Amino acid sequence: MSDPDRTRDEGSPDDHSAASGSDWRERSPIRPDGGERIGDSRPSSELRSDGGEASEASRATSDLRPDGGERIGDSRPSSDLRSDGGTEVEGADDVALDPWGSSTVSDYRKLFDQFGIEAFDEVLPEVPDPHYLMRRGVIFGHRDYRPVARAMREGEPFAALSGFMPTGDPHIGHKLVFDEIIWHQEQGGDAYGLIADLEAHSARGLTWAEIDEHATNYVLSLLALGFDPEDGELYRQSENRDVQDLAFELGAEANFSELQAIYDFDGETDVSHMQSVVTQMADILYPQLDEPKPTVIPVGPDQDPHMRLARDLAARMGYFGVTRAYASFEADDAERELLGVAYEALQADRSADERVRCEAAADWIEAEITPDDVRQRTVEKLRAAGKEPLRPRTRFLDRNATDEAFEALIEAVEGEKRVYDEHVDAFDMDREAATELAREVALDHGGYGFRAPSSIYHRFMTGLTGGKMSSSIPASHISLLDDPEDGYDKVKSATTGGRSTAEEQREKGGKADECPVYELYAYLLAGDDDEFAKEVYDECVGGERLCGGCKEQAAELMESFLEDHQEKRAEWEAKLDELDSDRKR
Ligand code: TRP
Ligand code: SF4
Repeated sequence: MSDPDRTRDEGSPDDHSAASGSDWRERSPIRPDGGERIGDSRPSSELRSDGGEASEASRATSDLRPDGGERIGDSRPSSDLRSDGGTEVEGADDVALDPWGSSTVSDYRKLFDQFGIEAFDEVLPEVPDPHYLMRRGVIFGHRDYRPVARAMREGEPFAALSGFMPTGDPHIGHKLVFDEIIWHQEQGGDAYGLIADLEAHSARGLTWAEIDEHATNYVLSLLALGFDPEDGELYRQSENRDVQDLAFELGAEANFSELQAIYDFDGETDVSHMQSVVTQMADILYPQLDEPKPTVIPVGPDQDPHMRLARDLAARMGYFGVTRAYASFEADDAERELLGVAYEALQADRSADERVRCEAAADWIEAEITPDDVRQRTVEKLRAAGKEPLRPRTRFLDRNATDEAFEALIEAVEGEKRVYDEHVDAFDMDREAATELAREVALDHGGYGFRAPSSIYHRFMTGLTGGKMSSSIPASHISLLDDPEDGYDKVKSATTGGRSTAEEQREKGGKADECPVYELYAYLLAGDDDEFAKEVYDECVGGERLCGGCKEQAAELMESFLEDHQEKRAEWEAKLDELDSDRKR
């Protein structure tokens, strides 16, 4: 594993010029306002969402996987493909995201192109009154955020939850996530903030004393930034009995091979570390324990492997799986796809009431499709089915259902249906209606009805000293507990995107897109004021703004932010004992 704190390649000039196209993914999405996107792409160094570094405990190097789409039910993580995008800067790392390691993202494009994270821009118009981190492209990606946005628009229930490993002081990188939770709460969502103490203990080896020391600091900052504890919930993993129970249940659905494939666990991985994974799965699904609802998990992209597992488990916990099918026999995803192709091709030549028989489909596949395993298996199944007509249908698979629940489902399926030992086929129901019905029946009979959780991903911040923001390099980040004057000083000594002389700066303009100070404005200091962010940006690249004054202004803003934040923290500290919350030990 590479040195987590190593400063990353900054990219070649070629890389920059190649990025002048209009595809946003080729450009830096830190926008001063809601409009135009500005800047070149560059490998950015970053802070992990938890602000920590790789430790001895981080043996795992899990990659974001390219098949990222929604996988329901029987899917298992696919092979360990690494991205090899040939057009990248030489020496740029692969996208290798490791929840406990030195995840760096040299190129956010790969997260879309190869791993199925969607660009946030695509969903932005559906979000009522989006947060400035969304407008400025700091929140750059999502998985399945639409249901959350819809619930927000329609005043339906939804939830937001994120967790923090108390490995050190909360800093301005954590503030992004705090703000995201709080914003969703303000939009009407059920909000949750949790302290991942079990994970910090098992995956990072922190002692309980260290954990206790830090845990309260995260809670205080979350409260000081506006989290409403009366309306939302704060908890510690170790103290939430419902989460523990759910984790145990989830553990029954996930096996070692799967964790190995996702997180690179091996025979040396301790059991507690694995338990911290199912605990996180339980955290993620916890908001839906009482009632299924769209739930968003705001995190850094290093947490995406967790999201994919959680989305998978959400489906697998259900009593019933819902798939498409073409005949009475069972088929896996690849076989099903081939059956679909054969069906479409053959039915196109026939009238609606002229049925395609399985054996005819077998003939067609043998004639048209290049032989491989899938073809062979599919043909065998079709031959065995003989004259059975090939007909598209929606299938309910009995996964974990009680007999009673299965009976109730059979009863509830509308229209033409056919009942088998382990599944029911419905000919007049679409997938969506079927999924809803399966959820209802499961819930009525004591089962789980989780919706796949959604996620949004924020960009990692660049360190103030350039390179990666790292909690082990105090000068690279600003802790929310830093003395306001130290905060001021850190900003004043930050690296900039300025030119070597004032004259050159006036002539060519500064490089705001490569400037950690500009990032401070965009991520934090400009707050909701897009005009101000744009002004800083425009003045910088236009050569009207020089770094000295710009840093002075940023430093002052940082100082007063910290003063204000710490005042609010102190107020909350006084109130903390009264808080009806099980956050404390
Ligand atoms: N694993 C997360 C981290 O490393 C912390 C965490 C625990 C979490 N449970 C969570 C994050 C649930 C989001 C949702 O920071
Ligand atoms: Fe950065 Fe400000 Fe200098 Fe521009 S003027 S490069 S934003 S410090």
